Amino acid sequence: MNILNSNLQLKSENVRTLIIKKRRVIPFFDYSEVFSSSEEELVDVFRNVLRRGAFIQQSDLLEFEENLADYLGVKYAFGVANCTDGLIIAMKAIGIKPGDEVIFPSHTFVASAASIHFSGGTPVPIECGSDHLMDVTAIEKAITNKTKAILPVQLNGRTCNMDAIQKIANKYELKIIEDSAQALGAKFKNRSAGSFGDIAAFSFYPAKTLGCFGDGGAIVTSDDQIAKKILTLRDHGRDEFGDVSGWGLNSRLDNLQAAILNFNLKKYDNAVARRRKIAFLYNKYLSGLPNLKLPPAPDSNPDYFDIYQNYEIESSHRDKLREYLDQAGIKTILQWGGKAVHQFEKLKLNYQLPITEKTLKDSFLLPINTMITDYDVKYICEKIIEFYNH
Ligand SMILES: Cc1ncc(COP(=O)(O)O)c(C=O)c1O
Repeated sequence: MNILNSNLQLKSENVRTLIIKKRRVIPFFDYSEVFSSSEEELVDVFRNVLRRGAFIQQSDLLEFEENLADYLGVKYAFGVANCTDGLIIAMKAIGIKPGDEVIFPSHTFVASAASIHFSGGTPVPIECGSDHLMDVTAIEKAITNKTKAILPVQLNGRTCNMDAIQKIANKYELKIIEDSAQALGAKFKNRSAGSFGDIAAFSFYPAKTLGCFGDGGAIVTSDDQIAKKILTLRDHGRDEFGDVSGWGLNSRLDNLQAAILNFNLKKYDNAVARRRKIAFLYNKYLSGLPNLKLPPAPDSNPDYFDIYQNYEIESSHRDKLREYLDQAGIKTILQWGGKAVHQFEKLKLNYQLPITEKTLKDSFLLPINTMITDYDVKYICEKIIEFYNH
């Protein structure tokens, strides 16, 4: 080998070491990429709103509310500051009072239960089923003469079996408040999550399937009386004439956020299709592994159209697997920090729900969003398979 050739070889080896050293990183969610991927169009949206000085309850908000109601097939949609406020307002609007019990699945964000608490009601947690959503067979056992409502959580972008929940609600004359924070566009038997109950709330937190650039949420209903209450409750109790008709909050969705959401809603079907494709690939590559429990695959049951806000898997070697993936640059997270609501001792809920506890002990979330590529998904799956081969 002459000197020239050996130099070339040295150089190419350096490049290889550099590539190996520059470890591949797949973040769980890349917040800055959300902006940079559509920077010019988004700056146009900002400029347009800011130049008009259209900040609070302006045309962009009204437009978004109309678009959202159409998209979901409901009569009314109202923007609010975030989904937690939306759920609190929902509890108030349907008349939950101190002493009333509301049944909810403990595998949810603490906000679902907090909304019951802040309306003066008592949160009654129940178990989740094998798909991680509220176990509908556990609802009736939790009903007492104080029960006023059921709060199904449309978790991970999947809708609960709303036929079963509706049947129980009708039998015991209970209201239904859907926590649809994670399920915009998810369907059960061709009906959208959020359109089944008396009232529902959605979240537009930046990492949600439809996200804005800060906090944001919406409440939806098809009931005229409830709609009137929502409008006043979100705006200091003021009615359409400016008269204060009762106590209210300041929980309005900023007009700028509404304009961003309008922009994102136009591309939303593509975003959902992409998430479903990623879920399909995860299922394709990982379904052969006996040690993993995967979410239902897209199209595995024609009754369900899931939008995959999250891809939550179970492994009895969870912590070691997560560590292995972390070493490979793959960032995963534990939903709710790994604890169901009743497990937060300081909330003093005092329940034992062994199925939910076991589910939360074994579960974690793989990256799923519109920024990751098919190649990323393949790499993640290869690393999981490699972990089990070891
Ligand atoms: C199931 C569920 N409910 C409620 C919320 C609260 O939403 P927000 O952050 O918009 O208040 C979230 C947010 O992550 C959620 O996942």
